[in-house]
Formats: sequence, structure tokens, C-alpha cells
Amino acid sequence: MQHFLSVKDPIDIQGLVKEALLIKKTPYADKHLGKNRTLGLLFFNASLRTRLSTQRAAQNLGLESIVMNVGQDGWGLEFEDGAIMNGNKAEHIKEAAPVIGQYCDIVGVRSFPGLENREEDYSEQVINQFVKHTGKPILSLESATRHPLQSLADLITIEELKTKPRPKVVLTWAPHVKALPQAVPNSFAEWMNQADVDFVITHPEGYELAPEFAGNAKVTYNQKEAFEGADFIYAKNWSSYKDYGKIINSDPSWMVTMEKMKLTNNAKFMHCLPVRRNVVVEDAVLDSEHSVVVQQAGNRVWAAQTVLKNLLLKVMREESPYLF
Ligand code: CP
Repeated sequence: MQHFLSVKDPIDIQGLVKEALLIKKTPYADKHLGKNRTLGLLFFNASLRTRLSTQRAAQNLGLESIVMNVGQDGWGLEFEDGAIMNGNKAEHIKEAAPVIGQYCDIVGVRSFPGLENREEDYSEQVINQFVKHTGKPILSLESATRHPLQSLADLITIEELKTKPRPKVVLTWAPHVKALPQAVPNSFAEWMNQADVDFVITHPEGYELAPEFAGNAKVTYNQKEAFEGADFIYAKNWSSYKDYGKIINSDPSWMVTMEKMKLTNNAKFMHCLPVRRNVVVEDAVLDSEHSVVVQQAGNRVWAAQTVLKNLLLKVMREESPYLF
């Protein structure tokens, strides 16, 4: 694994999940691997889980971490090639990224989309420029279109809790007050399409995900039909891909309720968090035995630790090929 940006980076996602479950049982077995190594974590946007779980994962591997809220504390960064920098951006990515690469062995980047220009967001300019100029492995902490650490934690959670070899997993759109990125549902769909699950996506008309992410999933506009017999319900809001970045429907009847959970096969309720109670999902579901959102968030540590371990081994192999 050169970088961790999408489901395409690990060679074998089932192998990665197995490794994560082993790491969860023996979290300090690789404490020596990170000695004298540094992880840089760059946040252009807010975070609770990604920031803390990745720091904890680094700590378990003996890695030091340096965290910077680049969106608030850093110089305004220019990403355009050939830009005349006479505006409010003081530093170009062509200098900033390789400088960060001098200080760190692995660099994590969180950068959300602007939700105004679909082509620009889907080109993943920010994270790709870090890949191009840092000279070190790049770990996505959520990019414009994907959140792979979240998806790996989601798959670990499904593996832990499934009660049949091939569970039915439903990704349902849910209402929200703000226009949100498609990164979490895109990524979840991308990972579920590679996993051994029956995968169904349900949303109101107009909220279709980009075809490269929806893949071969069954898509239905009938939420109740989708819930029937489901083993896992994964709720998430996203803004429209077609009418890019817009809220085209905020129908509250799409909220996940206990009444709808009764249609399922006693399904587990999942959400990446943070979640708006009684907008996305009602209290009764989150406060019930159905909800596994805390366990799911806990698994963010094991997802991050597994990926960091693999990236560290890659760095070490390249530095000392004769040791491996
Ligand atoms: N799920 C998730 O990525 O949470 P944070 O935005 O708090 O990191």
C-alpha cells in the first residue's frame, strides 16, 4: 500500500479487516514499529473521531503525532499551478507539502469539498497535490469524495456483528439541515460493493450517487421496501450529486424511526457520527439495542492502526530492503 486514499489501495480488504480484528485483541504488539517516527495530521476541517482515533492509533504503534489545523492556523495555501499569488494565499502547495514531508514519515490530510464545483471536487485536487508533492505516504482523513478510514471501520463493525455469512446492508439517505458532502456514502458504497454483502441504497429521487460509487448496488426510492429483512441500516445524509451540492428534498419522513426498524431483521443501526438526533434518526433508535454507533466509532482506532501499520512497514521496507 503506497497511500491510503480509497478501497483501491489495500490489496485485500478482507485481509485488512482480519488484521484489524487481531490488532483490536493485541493493540500494543507493534509498539516498536513507530519508534522515532512521526505522523503529521493536517486538518482543513473540524473533526472529533478522526483526529482522536488516529492519534490513539499512532500512540499504540509508538508513533509520535503532530497535529495542525491548517485551515485555521496555517498560511492560506495555493493549489493552482502557475497562480500569480497576489491574493490572500501566502504559500504554494509545491513548497508546503515537501516541507511537511521533511518533518513527517506519514502525512494524514482532511479536506472537505466546496460543494460548488463538482468537477473540481471530484478531481480531488487537494489530496492529490499532497500525494504529488509530499514525498511520503498520504493517509486520507476524509477527502472531497471519500472517507476510507470510516469505511474500513464500518466493515470491521459489520464483520464483528453479522449473524449470517452474507448480511443485507442498507445505506439510507436521511434528512439534514445542511448540505453535506457525498464522501461518506460514496466511500461506504465503494467498500460495500467489494464486500460479501447484499447491498441496497435507498434515497429520494435526485440523490443518486455518482455511478462509479453506486456500482452494482440495488437502488430503490422506497425506503420501507429497502428496510425489509435488513441486517444493517446505515443512515447518512448527503447533498445531491446531480444538482451538485444542493438540498433538493428535506422530507422529514425519511428520518429513521423505531417503526421502520421493526421492518428489519432486528437490524443494527449504524451512522458515522456526528448525528443530529430527531432529524436523521429518532432518539428511540439511538437509545435502543439496535444502535452500534459507539462501537462503530471505537473501531476507528483499529482501522487507523491497521492502515498506519501497513504504511509504516512500507516506509521501513523502502529504507532497508535487505531487512525484509
Ligand atoms: N465520522 C467522522 O469522521 O467523525 P469526525 O468528523 O468527528 O472525525
